[in-house]
Amino acid sequence: MMMTKDKPTRNMALELVRVTEAAALAAGRYMGRGNKEKADKAAVDAMRLIMNTIPMAGVVVIGEGEKDEAPMLFNGETLGAGDFPQVDIAVDPIDGTRPLANGLNNSIATVAVAPRGTMFDPGPFLYMNKIAVGREAKGVIDINAPVKDNLKKIARAKGADLEDLTVVILDRSRHAGLISEVRACGARIRQIPDGDVAGALMTAWPDSHIDVLMGIGGTPEGVLAACALRAMDGNIQGKLVVRNDDERRRGEEMGYDLDRVLTMDDLVSSEDVFFAATGITNGDLLQGVSYFKDGARTDSLVMRGLTGTVRQIISTHRLEKLAQISPIHY
Ligand code: FBP
Repeated sequence: MMMTKDKPTRNMALELVRVTEAAALAAGRYMGRGNKEKADKAAVDAMRLIMNTIPMAGVVVIGEGEKDEAPMLFNGETLGAGDFPQVDIAVDPIDGTRPLANGLNNSIATVAVAPRGTMFDPGPFLYMNKIAVGREAKGVIDINAPVKDNLKKIARAKGADLEDLTVVILDRSRHAGLISEVRACGARIRQIPDGDVAGALMTAWPDSHIDVLMGIGGTPEGVLAACALRAMDGNIQGKLVVRNDDERRRGEEMGYDLDRVLTMDDLVSSEDVFFAATGITNGDLLQGVSYFKDGARTDSLVMRGLTGTVRQIISTHRLEKLAQISPIHY
């Protein structure tokens, strides 16, 4: 991925959208069928297959982790069909496995690519505290500051009152304190059952009317969100969360500083980043996959950090034709 003013360079995001479309098409068949493992395997297999057709030398830095004990695209796995460009890859074949298996909203397939060595390696840390915002408030957030200070500054940056703000928070008991603090400020709360990659993106998406994401979610999801927010000119900060002594010991041995604020630059240090996501079930950002006689329809977002171009791609897939050339069962 080299920059030149002579001619436009390749936009890998347009290839990545084939990856997330394939994952969504394969996994979408499992909506509501109560089987997270089969859905995950379908998404992973489809992702891996298409990823290996893209001319690149990729290493998975953000793969699926211990948390899900899922069929993985594992960290360190190499993907791609070339020697160049050398890239880091972040995947979440299904962000929102639970909602997909239960037939609920807001599950997406997502992937990001950035130059080799530029993505944050979460090590043993599965969880991260996060604050994410869109463009107007990108300069005012501070994850170390009290909730009230952040909300006041975000409101001021957006020319709004505190009562006008909507904060998106994962619906988890660990967020009881955070929710009380936000309520005390008078801001509105939108709780989501899962899927804080989409939650973070919503803060930078005008139509979603979400102003800020707060709370603890997956570290891999934080890196994926950072890739997208770089392209959308938003911002995210994170702090690693330690769950137990073993995690602390492993992290310290590996040299992680647990007090460090992870900025968007720390999470992905290059602007030359590509991101794609496709809806699996209906959500605020994306429609889910719909299947019909001989075909299916997908709804995707595709972004490139260097240009800031965000594309919305609605595709119609002819499944009979695909069956003739693809080993994936859609
Ligand atoms: P997966 O579907 O990939 O498991 O992630 C769903 C998710 O809601 C993420 O969006 C979020 O970051 C994480 O899980 C939160 O973890 P937990 O469900 O353990 O609180």
